[in-house]
Amino acid sequence: MQVTVVNKQIQATPADAIIVNLFEGVTTPGGATGAVDTALGSSDGIPGSGAISRLIQLGDFTGKLNEVAVVYSQGLIPAPRVIVAGLGKREEFTLDRARQASGSAVRKARDLGCKRVATIVHGSGIGGLQPREAAQATVEGALMGAYQFREHKSQTDNKAIEELIVVEYDANKLSEIEAGARAGQIVAEAVNAARTLINRAPNVLYPETFAQAAQEMAARTGLKCTVLNEAEIAQERMGGVLAVAQGSARPPRFVVLAHEPDGSDAQPLVFVGKGVTFDTGGISIKPSENMGSMRADMSGAAAVFGALQAIAGLNLPRRVIGLIPLVENMPSDRAYRPGDTITMMSGLTVEIITTDAEGRMILADALHYAKRFNPRGVVDLATLTGACVVALGEGVAAGLFSNNDAWADAVLRAAEAEGEKLWRLPLYPEYGDKIKSDYADIKNSGGHNGGVGTSAYFLYRFVEGAGEYPWAHIDMAGMMFSNENKGYLVKGARGYGVRTLIQLAQTA
Ligand code: BES
Ligand code: MN
Ligand code: ZN
Repeated sequence: MQVTVVNKQIQATPADAIIVNLFEGVTTPGGATGAVDTALGSSDGIPGSGAISRLIQLGDFTGKLNEVAVVYSQGLIPAPRVIVAGLGKREEFTLDRARQASGSAVRKARDLGCKRVATIVHGSGIGGLQPREAAQATVEGALMGAYQFREHKSQTDNKAIEELIVVEYDANKLSEIEAGARAGQIVAEAVNAARTLINRAPNVLYPETFAQAAQEMAARTGLKCTVLNEAEIAQERMGGVLAVAQGSARPPRFVVLAHEPDGSDAQPLVFVGKGVTFDTGGISIKPSENMGSMRADMSGAAAVFGALQAIAGLNLPRRVIGLIPLVENMPSDRAYRPGDTITMMSGLTVEIITTDAEGRMILADALHYAKRFNPRGVVDLATLTGACVVALGEGVAAGLFSNNDAWADAVLRAAEAEGEKLWRLPLYPEYGDKIKSDYADIKNSGGHNGGVGTSAYFLYRFVEGAGEYPWAHIDMAGMMFSNENKGYLVKGARGYGVRTLIQLAQTA
């Protein structure tokens, strides 16, 4: 989708649809929405007499968040349709609500078959947001809300928006709005790139093809990309990655993406993403029902991919490294098994209780590998445990664990700013007691109870000690998919985490 910014009145802008907005409970629209309403009036120029006011008076539109109404303009303005987006209550308004309203409205325009869509900037008027951030949120919501995954369909309707026109009447705000719109496009495209990787079927997206996608993305954006193949992974003694990968005919890869602008700091941020391109459970095989959703077991990896893409695109003036271990977890005659003892890259030995606790095995090596960068802070993202979904709910929030309160707060603030729900859970040492092993240093499962805490503590065992860095672990198992079209979310992959990481790279 092409995004342009124009200095115009929205009611004078030619397009297949124009988008305006309304707070809940407002009876006489003001600002740009008021101007459109007046233009749609029969008794010329009297405020509150137009088609939008009529919609409100009839009670057909109340302005609830994500509510959308379509008004036909009958030749009174150049655009044939006006889409009114509800912003919810004014006192509850946030940047994320601007993003959501934009997503709902733009998706409606797409469903109506619109190709050119003009929108005002949501929230920069009485919403009280800065023009730049409001424009960014408007464009982010628009591009995320209009996202469709159609790669695997041979037949589709051809409904797609080709151009989004961001319209601003106040010339003084224009340069800020242009900057925000540009950033919004970069961020939304990164989220959508992550969604596409997650949605892609596991026979198409596997370690080698994910790594290829990373190389192509790096070549486009100017990131440095290093891909370790199986022999190189073996040279690094990444025992966890090798053990999980050995059951699959598809070899593992370990991707390092680096954004290293001239003069940037010696101590980078390091983002680590779980990249299990399909998780059958291995020998400890999962039930077949819903196993297909394990195509999304690389959502953490996709978030790191998307974040690095945007960080390069935005040319952020700091050093950021992305580490992505990629494996497929399969049962076979060569697969690792319960009872095996694996020597990890760090030298710690792990007794395998269940081959379905594979994510922690590959992340452990990546978290150890991260030490060579002397990180200022590390965040890992992983669809790690069903227990996290039990604790926090599906589609409600991800869980956060950390060894450092200041770093945890920085991550929580970034997530909050982006409307990506994240809730801190405790890293009690008692969880460490539950993964003590009779046979090896530790075991890869502490059992059913407290499964989210024991998995986090397992990871911590590879962070602690010499070279320990501020670390945050995000268990995003409940945040793989959305099962509805709502706001900027569409059915399928959410692309959770991408925006939190970008925000963190800008603020931490
Ligand atoms: N990828 C799964 C976790 C998962 C489950 C993510 C459901 C999203 C939805 C992970 O590899 C896994 O299998 N975890 C096990 C760990 C257990 C065997 C210790 C789990 O949560 O059951
Ligand atoms: Mn598993
Ligand atoms: Zn998994």
